[in-house]
Amino acid sequence: MQKHLISARDLSKEDLLLLRALYEDFKGGRRESLEGDVLLFFLESSTRTRFSFDRACRLLGLRTYYTGRGESSIEKGESFYDTVKTLKVLGFRALIFRVPFVLFPYEGYLKEGMSLINAGDGTHQHPTQGLIDLFTALEVFGKLEGLKVAYIGDIVHSRVFRSGAHLFNLFGARLGVCGPRTLIPSDLSPFGVEGIFNSPEEAIDWADLCIWLRLQEERFQENHIPSKESYFMQFGLTKERHERIRGYFMHPGPVNLYVDADAQVLYSEKSLLLKQVENGLYVRMAVLYWALTDG
Ligand code: CP
Repeated sequence: MQKHLISARDLSKEDLLLLRALYEDFKGGRRESLEGDVLLFFLESSTRTRFSFDRACRLLGLRTYYTGRGESSIEKGESFYDTVKTLKVLGFRALIFRVPFVLFPYEGYLKEGMSLINAGDGTHQHPTQGLIDLFTALEVFGKLEGLKVAYIGDIVHSRVFRSGAHLFNLFGARLGVCGPRTLIPSDLSPFGVEGIFNSPEEAIDWADLCIWLRLQEERFQENHIPSKESYFMQFGLTKERHERIRGYFMHPGPVNLYVDADAQVLYSEKSLLLKQVENGLYVRMAVLYWALTDG
């Protein structure tokens, strides 16, 4: 029986414990031999998500196909729903999609007989990145109950925040946010956020883990910041702020250098960036195996 992963909000604690066990198994060297064809359908660019999903599929024995922007009939006006129906008839077992629009509501898509896995839809969800951040934090800190996690930067456009906040909440972590008022959602009530910090310094002093987010200018409908330089000075991970961090920091990538963060601190001993990327492969193996089998 195939499963879907469109929103992290659909994952129960039981699902998460199963996914975590699979993640650890795959990270520990477990190999499986699945069969079938998977389409990576990416209407937005990607390095980490695309290639880790592709490698994860191949390591599990699945054949992969790729289509990018300008390469499908979506460009001629075909709906995403008709695209899904068409791909199912062509025999694909799973569709891994990254799209610029929000796929909501999505219940209608789930009965098409093909596993749907969200690799990022607009500002809505990026569930596998949420899982990466959750499992990486668990690995580093041992437990998440009471862990103080501060998301810093462009919160309003962040699908990483929307997925991660739900998952961290399920494990009892405490959440705070920090960013320009124009880049913080007006309603934070669905995300279990305790407080909004006025400055990154306040967030850093409170948090065990700081998650810097990418400034997503491609999604701006209007001007939200005076300039990139002033944004970096007010909210970026500067060398001084890096010095101040007691624990660790994450960034889902890609990083806008000298907008989100100073290039010289990216791979410091406090950085979990490359650990996040490395763990992405095993998270995606776990998600694919979970989605395509009864295991
Ligand atoms: N974190 C993330 O989604 O990175 P990519 O855009 O490179 O896939």
